[in-house]
Amino acid sequence: MVFAPARLIIVDEGVSAHPQTLLVTGGAGFIGSCFVRAELARGTRVVTLDALTYAGNLDNLAEVAAHPAHRFVKGDIRDAALVSELLTAHAPDAVIHCAAESHVDRSILDAAPFVDTNVSGTQRLLAASLRHWSQLPSERAASFRFVHVSTDEVFGSLGPDDAPFSAASPYRPNSPYAASKAAADHFVRAYHHTYGLPTLTTHCSNNYGPYQFPEKLIPLMILNALERRPLPLYGDGKNVRDWLYVEDHCAALALILRAGRPGAVYTIGGRAELENREVVLRVCDLVDRLVPDGGPSRRELVSFVADRPGHDRRYAIDDAALRQELGWAPAESFDSGLEKTIAWYLAHAAWVAGVKSGAYRQWLDTNYGGRPGAPGAPR
Ligand code: NAD
Ligand code: TYD
Repeated sequence: MVFAPARLIIVDEGVSAHPQTLLVTGGAGFIGSCFVRAELARGTRVVTLDALTYAGNLDNLAEVAAHPAHRFVKGDIRDAALVSELLTAHAPDAVIHCAAESHVDRSILDAAPFVDTNVSGTQRLLAASLRHWSQLPSERAASFRFVHVSTDEVFGSLGPDDAPFSAASPYRPNSPYAASKAAADHFVRAYHHTYGLPTLTTHCSNNYGPYQFPEKLIPLMILNALERRPLPLYGDGKNVRDWLYVEDHCAALALILRAGRPGAVYTIGGRAELENREVVLRVCDLVDRLVPDGGPSRRELVSFVADRPGHDRRYAIDDAALRQELGWAPAESFDSGLEKTIAWYLAHAAWVAGVKSGAYRQWLDTNYGGRPGAPGAPR
């Protein structure tokens, strides 16, 4: 709270004129679309490149569909010719790389798309950005940025008493998703080290908020609680995640883009470490309060199911460097962000209906259909 005004001061003083144009990959996804909306609101021109996979959704950008400073391009980050064409045509001041295959459970079922997009796609985007950057006049080259949006999951799993992850933490990816993001991070590092491309890498903890595809924990639980369907907790439900409201993540990205040091790595977190079962109980209590239907508490819907293979036990983030260097702090607490999130899902029934398409229904069958109950899990 103390830091919130500092965030605004840094953005407003001296750096607000730059950058003027951004290329945002994955901008039709959960975090990317939030970032696009925020940048357009502050007057930046944005070109969004997104392949519209099952996770990408043009409805996420409906608010800015007619915005004169926004251009949406359906395309793949692996399409080097397209990316080069966009860089030449729009001459962005920075690339914000959010495009990814992003769901751990899907990576366990099939890792191949994660290698294709997260590793090969990132390398091709880097190569195109390097070609573009190396042809810029020196002043523009000096201010160009490539912001790579990575994850805390590349650092593996913490024990209960371990220090939180920081930029100095060793890489220990455990899931195919984390391994693919780790490989991408190494390419980003190498393009900075070898060629001097002005890259910045961020490792954020778990995000939640509006427009999140409901295969991730919080939106899945909100929608299931609203429909009075079972709330499937993996294993004993005591795995710990550190939660950050998506707009706070995007505010950190905006700051890092404008005031971060090229070559630097930043960890971003919410200081909101919670066991999954606690998260789900809070969802239940809020849904009970916001949607009283006379039925029993939604807590009764909690059901323990077989654990995710290789399930990381705990993530936590040391965000002191980001707070001290750039003056960032989240505006939302977990509870305030969760209430906003549930209110958003309640107010956006058409969006919810849209995402409950074949792909989502199919995923529910694939991931939960034959999943047994968790042996010995608490009730
Ligand atoms: P998301 O799955 O909602 O969005 C990813 C977007 O990328 C989608 O719109 C999809 O269509 C697009 N995309 C996928 N493959 C593509 C390709 N080959 N070419 C172009 N576009 C493609 O994911 P998200 O939750 O918004 O995550 C965004 C980024 O943030 C990812 O890199 C993820 O690793 C990272 N991250 C996410 C979280 C989180 O909690 N969601 C936390 C930390 C970091
Ligand atoms: P998820 O939202 O998939 O994010 P990540 O795996 O990237 O942390 O899952 C968050 C936590 O919630 C994770 O510990 C797995 C757990 N989880 C469940 O217990 N049940 C579920 O149905 C899902 C989707 C996740």
